[in-house]
Amino acid sequence: METLSRTKIAELLKSPVFDSKVNVKGWVRTRRGNKAISFVALNDGSTIHNIQIVIDIEKFGEDFLKPITTGACISVNGLLVESQGKGQIAEIQAEEIEIYGSADPLSYPLQKKGHSLEFLREIAHLRPRTNTFGAVLRVRHHMAYAIHKYFNDRGFYYFHSPIITASDCEGAGAMFQVTTLPMKEVPHTKEGDVDYKEDFFGRQANLTVSGQLEAELGALALGATYTFGPTFRAENSNTPRHLAEFWMIEPEVAFNEIKENMDLAEDFLKYLIRYALENCYDDLEFLQKMYDEELIDRLRFVAENDFVRLTYTEGVEILKASGEKFEFPVDWGTDLQSEHERYLVEKHFKRPVILTDYPKEIKSFYMKQNEDGKTVRAMDVLFPKIGEIIGGSQREENYEKLMARVEELGMCAETIWWYLETRKFGTAPHSGFGLGFERLILFVTGMQNIRDVIPFPRTPNNADF
Ligand code: 4AD
Ligand code: MG
Repeated sequence: METLSRTKIAELLKSPVFDSKVNVKGWVRTRRGNKAISFVALNDGSTIHNIQIVIDIEKFGEDFLKPITTGACISVNGLLVESQGKGQIAEIQAEEIEIYGSADPLSYPLQKKGHSLEFLREIAHLRPRTNTFGAVLRVRHHMAYAIHKYFNDRGFYYFHSPIITASDCEGAGAMFQVTTLPMKEVPHTKEGDVDYKEDFFGRQANLTVSGQLEAELGALALGATYTFGPTFRAENSNTPRHLAEFWMIEPEVAFNEIKENMDLAEDFLKYLIRYALENCYDDLEFLQKMYDEELIDRLRFVAENDFVRLTYTEGVEILKASGEKFEFPVDWGTDLQSEHERYLVEKHFKRPVILTDYPKEIKSFYMKQNEDGKTVRAMDVLFPKIGEIIGGSQREENYEKLMARVEELGMCAETIWWYLETRKFGTAPHSGFGLGFERLILFVTGMQNIRDVIPFPRTPNNADF
């Protein structure tokens, strides 16, 4: 076969040079035709669109062409011509074909279109080959890139917080332990406790639930930082919005107070949504057609309209006056459930909401305490279909106030002594928040289940692939 440099299908369809000789490589989506001609729809992952390969059967022989079935991988040299058929601008008249890998029709599971998302979760190793996952994974990539671009363009530094940590104080969730101690004969101290002196780090260690505490150190030196990494929570929450391993983006900014923190969160989310509309339109159109007919309108609406800002107290009053029957009753002091958040966003205000000033009892120790002695300067950003997409706050920068809270909560101050020291040496007002990456991808793609927006979801009883 003649050596030609490969062109990606996205490139061919974007700027086709007709009557030129090209090479494409990809996976067969379908093959149909008659005794004389075969039409192969080929996809190489560079775009949702396939390119049609037109094969003169006599030229290659039926035996040679037999392994070219759904799922097979081929390389094709041929002439790029304007397409006769509707629905495509260009097609390739095959001149030479190499078969890299066949896919036995009796055992390849992705034979037909329209497999359920539940079924596809059972074949997570193959589901990136479907149109849906191709689209979702391309959007996911573009969002990751846009996040780095947003912060880089605004002078934030990417700060790498550790994945293994000895502090278990954030209170954001149950943690996974990291250990090399032998499971069968765990060493014990004389007092009968596990002897972590024998463990790899010489102390108990866990996977991080958040990079925030470290990001704060970064911000109090570099001015503005962000983390973007995997975080882990061992809660047994089997919901369409929770993963045991998810990615979080945590900007942290010195000198920002809660108002600037809200402005940053709103601007950031709108930027990401606009970026998706501008750079992933084909994939979003596909997802809209398949799963969510209001998707693009909803994205435009959120990108173009102001978020509503109100306090937790005002939010609770609205919920109590709503007359709505909630599964979980709501009263001042209770944590809001997803049903409450979605009522405010979808039914009452019909737009994203930023709730602030939550009761201190239901929020983390590090949040800045308000004058009223009851609330803290927290902010949650609530989105249609999702509920909480961002959680953040202004941080308590006063050492005495922070210590008082640590003691009040009976926390293990010795594992976060380094964090507390930042309030002793050159402390400053600062604020930040955490965006759940998969919740963002849920919103942008219109998918319903968080297991379908990450290549390999980790949930209770599921770490198979
Ligand atoms: O509200 P959370 O727990 O806040 C923090 O971890 C803070 N340290 C953030 C900060 O201020 N720097 O989590 C932040 C976001 C949530 O709003 C949600 O979008 C997402 O992370 N999230 C999850 N996403 C998927 N699966 C889970 N189990 C999640 N838990 C939180
Ligand atoms: Mg939260």
